[in-house]
Amino acid sequence: MTGVPHELSRTERLLRACRGEPVDRPPVWLMRQAGRYLPEYRRAREGIAFLEMCRDVDRAVEVSLQPLTLVGTEAVILFSDIFVPVPAMGVEVDFRPGPVVAEPLRRLDQIERLRVPEPREAVPFVFEILRVLRQELASERVPLLGFAGAPFTLAAYLVEGGGSRHFSALKRMMVRAPEVLRALLDRLTAMVVAYLNAQIEAGAQVVQLFDTWAGILSPQDYRAWALPTHREIAAKLDRDAAPFILYVNDGAHVLDEMLQADADVISVDWRVDLAEAARRAGSHASVQGNLDPCALAAPPDEIARRVREMAETAAPARGHILNLGHGCLPDTPVEGVRAFTDAARTLGPARP
Ligand code: CP3
Repeated sequence: MTGVPHELSRTERLLRACRGEPVDRPPVWLMRQAGRYLPEYRRAREGIAFLEMCRDVDRAVEVSLQPLTLVGTEAVILFSDIFVPVPAMGVEVDFRPGPVVAEPLRRLDQIERLRVPEPREAVPFVFEILRVLRQELASERVPLLGFAGAPFTLAAYLVEGGGSRHFSALKRMMVRAPEVLRALLDRLTAMVVAYLNAQIEAGAQVVQLFDTWAGILSPQDYRAWALPTHREIAAKLDRDAAPFILYVNDGAHVLDEMLQADADVISVDWRVDLAEAARRAGSHASVQGNLDPCALAAPPDEIARRVREMAETAAPARGHILNLGHGCLPDTPVEGVRAFTDAARTLGPARP
């Protein structure tokens, strides 16, 4: 095919795919690629609390890099968590293993006390990890991703006090005290904008916003509560320096709304018909996803078949990044992850 450059570096391939420029084949990485499914991660994590590990620059750098050699992923994501910048706002958070908030936020006076900290002062180790990673990756020309939790997803945990099946306290706040939730989302949005821009300045070449829980909303509520935060973040990021990926879990019913956020890439899960997402994204956005992480338990041939199928199905979009629909799970087979990235390397250019 004409116009498709050969021998792209991994950095060029990812950045071009994000921006919808021609590539030799789709880039590949996996959400939660550094985690408990890797024995090497479990070893590095021994005898240290999760949040401590996120603050330990040497260990965080080590586990961020693990998937590169162990499973052949083609991008590195900062090892951290969406809750790392939250304690500096004045909220106590623990991990068991998911985030648990000592005092759930339910009242306006609690929210008015929240600080929007200068991120470089609040969590200097995050930017140190990024700087070291960027230096380590420069000669290999491997791209570095930064990330943040989306305001709605952070608010969901902060209001409930932790994960939840129905998020009924959060949904009650939406109907009984919308001004309280609005105030919380405003502060979180300001925090996320400052945090992601500081990550870009420290060396993140792409940034991803994780809205894991926005999919619990009806399309109307999504437009009222999630979309405005996405649009504000998209508008305020230094997008010339780093393209912006918007991930929404369980968002098959809000695809058009995801596209209205004006992100460079929409990241979709396996409940989304990839053909439909690619068609609607068209020339507006690239698409990332969307294999069910549980499918990585399949034999390598079957994983390779699914990778080819995803690449063909996503071809109508201006760009495609191979990824899962959600993160690797603690029981994800390492061989399955390797089969996934190996299959990506056998692909050619997209043929719409
Ligand atoms: O993708 C990566 O490899 C980078 C690291 C990363 C982690 N969390 C490390 C982590 C990223 C990008 C996240 C994002 C995150 N954290 C999200 C959004 C994405 C998603 O998965 O939906 C959410 C909702 C969280 C909150 C969170 N942190 C939960 C619910 C849990 C427990 C679930 C689990 O996997 O056990 C965590 C803990 C966590 N974050 C772990 C890791 C590697 C496990 C901690 C451990 O080692 O015990």
